[in-house]
Amino acid sequence: MTPFTFHNPTRLHFGAGQIARLTDEIPAGSRVLLVYGGGSIKKNGVYDQIRTALEQAEITEFSGIEPNPEFDTLMKAVTVGREFKPDWIIAAGGGSVSDGAKFIAAAIALDPALDPWLIVGNRIKLESAVPLGVVLTLPATGSESNLASVVTRSATQDKLSFKNPLVFPRFAVLDPTVMASLPPRQLGNGVVDAFVHTTEQYLTYPAEARIQDRLAEGILTTLAELGPELLDGVHEEARANVMWGANQALFGLVGVGQPQDWATHAIGHELTAIYGLDHAQTLAVTLPSLLRHCLAEKEDKLVQYARRVWGLNGEGRELALAAIASTVAFFERMGVPVRLSAHGIDPQEAAKKVEEQLIRHGRTALGEHGRLTPADCAAIVAAAG
Ligand code: NZQ
Ligand code: ZN
Repeated sequence: MTPFTFHNPTRLHFGAGQIARLTDEIPAGSRVLLVYGGGSIKKNGVYDQIRTALEQAEITEFSGIEPNPEFDTLMKAVTVGREFKPDWIIAAGGGSVSDGAKFIAAAIALDPALDPWLIVGNRIKLESAVPLGVVLTLPATGSESNLASVVTRSATQDKLSFKNPLVFPRFAVLDPTVMASLPPRQLGNGVVDAFVHTTEQYLTYPAEARIQDRLAEGILTTLAELGPELLDGVHEEARANVMWGANQALFGLVGVGQPQDWATHAIGHELTAIYGLDHAQTLAVTLPSLLRHCLAEKEDKLVQYARRVWGLNGEGRELALAAIASTVAFFERMGVPVRLSAHGIDPQEAAKKVEEQLIRHGRTALGEHGRLTPADCAAIVAAAG
């Protein structure tokens, strides 16, 4: 295990009815910018619960943050926010709304003479950000309690992230009952995304990070067990465990003190930027192909994963391949295809475009060893046809 410093400042309110905790978190009389997406919160009762809990606050709303939040949309919210001068931003939604709110929180506080697009990609130093709280409605990204945000600019085919401790949400509400209104596509996406966050920090090479490994294996096993149950419409406890699992996958503890990969996400972001695929759809296509491409260097961890997560027996390369096959079957069971052809995308064309995009974005040394080149990534995409 390598040395690390860990600090996650986000207070978590977990469980049914916890949206009411907003009343304690937000002092009466506060000015609150409430941001949300396309309106699912108005249909499932989340919006009403928030308004009730924030009865004593002065609220301005900004809605319409889309999946893969767009820079231009977020800038409209920044204009509203610079005028309104909120004490708090409350984000109600999935990762897109939470990520969008992080950008808005940083951009409102930025010197207006500076270009907010520079926030993305960490090309500018942030001095402050508006305090943020998140009401999570879709377990997937872990954005509700991490310091990362991913912003898309479709016009230029850019989907880029920034990370800054200033945008850690001060608190997050995780009420699993709000998952009842999630369509199967988003349930599948959420479980696959959380699963891949865990593999990005686990399927590398042995580093004697035993606690982190077993935490990862606990999350992966739980998602593999309960993801299908959720799709089949099973009970509250499945929702609660999946919501908690998705949170813990990217809370920060799995990856400390050990190597991390993240190449699947880097390739996935380019596939979304080019073709507009859902985030998790890109991961399901990329991960199995990447694992096959990197079989030799990942073999030891794949064998461990095969035994501990999938309960498989055997040895070496054959067992590693069996674990990849189990992963593929799981993604397909969650309704998230593992082939680009399922999305009507030509793999050769996609490979070429992804390679160009990775070079343009300076992502030229990916993976836990920094050895995956854009050409390797193109081969991974081409083989995912
Ligand atoms: O817009 P609304 O009406 O809220 O509908 C959303 C949206 O259409 C809907 N939804 C959310 N909760 C619902 C619901 N529908 C019914 N009932 C509910 N309870 O689901 C759709 C997708 O929402 P979105 O927020 O886009 O999904 P997700 O949480 O998967 O977020 C994806 C975004 O997060 C980024 C992705 O790249 C992508 O842009 N990520 C952020 C990360 C981070 N900050 O750490 C890490 C991830 O790897 C990821 O990159
Ligand atoms: Zn992800």
